[in-house]
Amino acid sequence: MKPFIPYSRPILAEAKLIENAANFYAQMDTRRTIRDFSDKPVPRQVIADIIKTASSAPSGAHKQPWTFAVISNPEMKRKIRVAAEEEEQKNYAGRMSEEWLRDLAPLGTDASKPFIEIAPYLIVVFKRAYDIHPDGKHKNYYVNESVGLAAGFLLAAIHQAGLCSLTHTPSPMNFLEKLLERPSNERAVLLIPVGYPAKGATVPDLERKPLDEVSVWWE
Ligand SMILES: Cc1cc2nc3c(=O)[nH]c(=O)nc-3n(C[C@H](O)[C@H](O)[C@H](O)COP(=O)(O)O)c2cc1C
Repeated sequence: MKPFIPYSRPILAEAKLIENAANFYAQMDTRRTIRDFSDKPVPRQVIADIIKTASSAPSGAHKQPWTFAVISNPEMKRKIRVAAEEEEQKNYAGRMSEEWLRDLAPLGTDASKPFIEIAPYLIVVFKRAYDIHPDGKHKNYYVNESVGLAAGFLLAAIHQAGLCSLTHTPSPMNFLEKLLERPSNERAVLLIPVGYPAKGATVPDLERKPLDEVSVWWE
């Protein structure tokens, strides 16, 4: 076992904590899912750092059970769009329940997904059900929770950098495993276009639940 190493953070004054938390909330509260992207290029280094941030998330037994596939290749983006739209056509034409379609109506989404080709980068998040090593399979723990956390870090990093994202789930997403030639232990969970919003992009006028609806306090 490796020896433990010291860890400390500066102790900030309460006023500074309050300011930091409020500022971060104000910054994160401006994050929105956009569906209308610009094709303006984004530096590769930005995407690399965003993924490093995502991979700094906590994970069960520190297994980091994720792979981020980064796609800027136009031919691959085209293949992904075609396959995603094929699934989404089936979803909107019958696989989704009436209730689901009613819930989606305010978002104005449909089976057409041009943003998959327009956004400069796609990041596909894969979960690793287990890891494959020369001596066989190694278990991963709390894979869904861990990958969900990494995806949250990813979206926060994208926003903090000044870019926009769309959390997209054109399910079933096994076409991504095939197109991106992933090994048998990986399952696609999210397809995330990343880039700048198109000029004149709009978003649904959504409200977020107030604090007292999303939290209970025992004080
Ligand atoms: C797990 C998950 C799956 C989603 N799938 C889709 C999707 O397939 N297509 C889409 O347009 N938006 C999708 N969204 C985006 C949500 O519609 C969006 O987050 C929600 O409406 C709130 O809007 P906001 O992100 O702007 O706050 C998904 C979000 C999550 C967290």
